[in-house]
Amino acid sequence: MSEEKFTKKILCIGAGYVGGPTMAMIAAKCPQYKVTVVDIDEKKIAAWQTDELPIYEPGLLDVVKQARGRNLFFTTELEKGIKEADIIFVSVNTPTKTFGEGAGKSADLQYWEKCARDIRSAAESDKIVVEKSTLPVKTAIAMERILNENDKGLHFEIVSNPEFLAEGSAIRDLENPDRVLIGSKETESGLKAREEIVEIFANWIPRDRLITSNLMSAELSKLVANSFLAQRISSINSISALCEIVDADVTEVANAIGKDSRIGNKFLNASVGFGGSCFKKDILNLVYLCETLGLYEVASYWESIVKMNEYQENRFVKTITQALFNTVTNKRIALFGFAFKANTSDTRESPAFYITKKLMEERAKVVITDPKALANAKRDLAGYNDAIEYVEDPYEAADKSHAVAIITEWDLYKTLDYERIYKQMEKPAFIFDGRNILDHQKLFEIGFNVYPLGKPHLIHFKEV
Ligand SMILES: NC(=O)c1ccc[n+]([C@@H]2O[C@H](COP(=O)([O-])OP(=O)(O)OC[C@H]3O[C@@H](n4cnc5c(N)ncnc54)[C@H](O)[C@@H]3O)[C@@H](O)[C@H]2O)c1
Repeated sequence: MSEEKFTKKILCIGAGYVGGPTMAMIAAKCPQYKVTVVDIDEKKIAAWQTDELPIYEPGLLDVVKQARGRNLFFTTELEKGIKEADIIFVSVNTPTKTFGEGAGKSADLQYWEKCARDIRSAAESDKIVVEKSTLPVKTAIAMERILNENDKGLHFEIVSNPEFLAEGSAIRDLENPDRVLIGSKETESGLKAREEIVEIFANWIPRDRLITSNLMSAELSKLVANSFLAQRISSINSISALCEIVDADVTEVANAIGKDSRIGNKFLNASVGFGGSCFKKDILNLVYLCETLGLYEVASYWESIVKMNEYQENRFVKTITQALFNTVTNKRIALFGFAFKANTSDTRESPAFYITKKLMEERAKVVITDPKALANAKRDLAGYNDAIEYVEDPYEAADKSHAVAIITEWDLYKTLDYERIYKQMEKPAFIFDGRNILDHQKLFEIGFNVYPLGKPHLIHFKEV
């Protein structure tokens, strides 16, 4: 299709976990639009142009291949991209601030604000700027001020379109989302911009799933959605600690409560803790917002979700140490999985990181295996790499180990030959199932001492 025939020209700034897959889906579904994705990271952009994409996501490569070179383009040419686009999605990272006011809680908006200033300086025509990144409430208003303070007579309309995809199922979520949220100012130009964005998603998503709201509701809804999801995990994890003491089974409790349609059965699996780049960051963002507004009780309520997560990670390491006769020093411990969840190579905020660090402090010999995340694990643990072993093959990882700990719920780990693993391990052999994905009784019968989460431990001798 020649340039003029494209009915919309869309630019996305930020070719990460969100920008890449989201734009690939828009381009695949809408061949009539030109979609360009720009990033400052040259290596990342180069990788998007090959079949070795910079992120692993099931089904992503197929979607990219449908549109790449046709109406989907990856580039580092920011200025050119800004000039030609009518609609600019901004999907850059918004990590937690590590310095100054709000350090450890509020969002670091430097990358976001830089984008606004880049857009303002390169633009030669009016544009719609879409917040795709997760941002503190009222960022859109600040951005509107920065963008519209220009001496070129240009008008920028800000729309908030927070992304609800989950890593590991991003393609499914983008193709068939529960909802897409589009917030704008409720002025004439705001509503017009909102409709332009609605029109994009209406190419493949039923209209009743395209929800609209004002700007602040859209920004806040993203923080609240992630906080509610994380809250469910922390709630069931808190109960897992109780179950282990009173000989209840957290899976049975989750099943019993999940049958109540008011509660529902999703996000009720006890685990070693939540990870990922978003949950903790977004909760802390909400906490910071509440604190700055003087809502201290509300802030502390939400902060407790993060504290419970830290408690669960800590508890898992303590269980390992106590079970291994109160010392893990020089013991080989195989961590099965490093990604923060299955089907992704993403290790950001993975409980595996914390668990590894704690075990290293105790001078254990940690060996890490993961089908997709070893490169990221090595990068995260750069300071420790001389002491840590990384192996692709889980059997090799388990060889001569004292304990295996399941950290990520990869399907692969459910079907391993645990008889073989048991034979290779030091005795007594321990297995800690931080995801409750294994057949614990069977493992016990093989000879393992089995420590599921939130269930009675299955051990061959009296616990010390
Ligand atoms: N990862 C998720 O599952 C997820 C889900 C929903 C929302 N979000 C939100 O989406 C946003 C992006 O997250 P992500 O996971 O894609 O981050 P990411 O780190 O994977 O990608 C961000 C990209 O932006 C690029 N970038 C930064 N500044 C730039 C600039 N000035 N110009 C061009 N490129 C620039 C970085 O190089 C990076 O490649 C965050 O606000 C996040 O909270 C993430």
